[in-house]
Amino acid sequence: MLTTPYVALELEIMEQNIRGMVSGLRRNNIQHWPHIKTHKSVRLAKLEQQLGASGITCAKLSEAEVMAEGGITSILLAYPLIGEDKCQRYAELARKISIRTIVDSVAGAQGLSQAAVKNGLEFAIDIAIDFGAHREGIQPDQLLSFARDIAALPGLKIKGVFTYAGTIYQYHEEADIRRAAREEAALLMKSRDLLNANGFTIETLSGGSTLSSFYADELNGITESRAGNFIFGDMNAINGGIYTPENCALTICATVVSIPLPGYATLDAGTKSLTSDLSATPGSYGLIQENPDIALVKLNEEHGYLRYDPEKVSLTIGEQLHIIPNHCCVVANLVDEIYAFRQGEFSETIAINARGKSY
Ligand SMILES: Cc1ncc(COP(=O)(O)O)c(C=O)c1O
Repeated sequence: MLTTPYVALELEIMEQNIRGMVSGLRRNNIQHWPHIKTHKSVRLAKLEQQLGASGITCAKLSEAEVMAEGGITSILLAYPLIGEDKCQRYAELARKISIRTIVDSVAGAQGLSQAAVKNGLEFAIDIAIDFGAHREGIQPDQLLSFARDIAALPGLKIKGVFTYAGTIYQYHEEADIRRAAREEAALLMKSRDLLNANGFTIETLSGGSTLSSFYADELNGITESRAGNFIFGDMNAINGGIYTPENCALTICATVVSIPLPGYATLDAGTKSLTSDLSATPGSYGLIQENPDIALVKLNEEHGYLRYDPEKVSLTIGEQLHIIPNHCCVVANLVDEIYAFRQGEFSETIAINARGKSY
């Protein structure tokens, strides 16, 4: 018997999600470079590659180090690398595997350039462009002058343009999501055309969230998608209209530990199992798979507050429930291992090798 709370993974659903994503992207000539921040597991990164991914995307250098150690040989590090120590670690990684990263500042590019020269290497880089979230990326109207500035730095080779259009998550209607995906692809293609018309050779157009990649026909023209969340699915994917609860592969299994009043019950999972991330459904911390009429309305660190109509729903102490989380990408990072099931039967334990690797 597995001890709750634990993270449960339905392998068939996950495999179906991977196959669906890969085939949609393939139909549109887009390579799949899944973002592994969602699972942080070497086993799952390798599975994604077996099922069609060309390489993987990591957010952090330490994640990439773990993946490389585990045998992954093609990585996009989709995060600005700042600091001499990190640039040196990056150089050490670049000696072992094929790796590319992004730049969006002259200072960042200078740091990478110095590390490349010091180590006798050339780093392939993508220029990150701000789609509108203002999280990273240079402004589109500064692209050409920025590219010229960093092209002059030794040890760097500009290979691509890159954007992350996370603003797409504000939309819940297919037409809006499709339009946002088209705009994302258009920004990348326009950026490539501008640079190529000015003597650069841009090979990669890197974009793609789970929402935009679900409508891969709208991304037609970009060369790679970094969708990550799709592998598990969560309330964000459901609220975006691309998944139903049946497509969600990852849940948190928790036990009813107290029923202080009729209609009030408490689970043994709180923010330390689910995080406090909210989704588009106000005041909900996840969907109870067994019965969506039971609401998970509040979390303490180790307690989940359930509310339900005792005339219609009966819960008992010791009963186990599965929660589809609001945001699956934050859940795997909370545990050392997750438990995988096939046709309802326990199948294997999957290690979260890059858990806590945020540096
Ligand atoms: C740079 C980057 N690329 C790709 C992704 C994957 O997007 P999604 O979570 O929609 O799959 C993320 C997610 O945060 C990201 O930050």
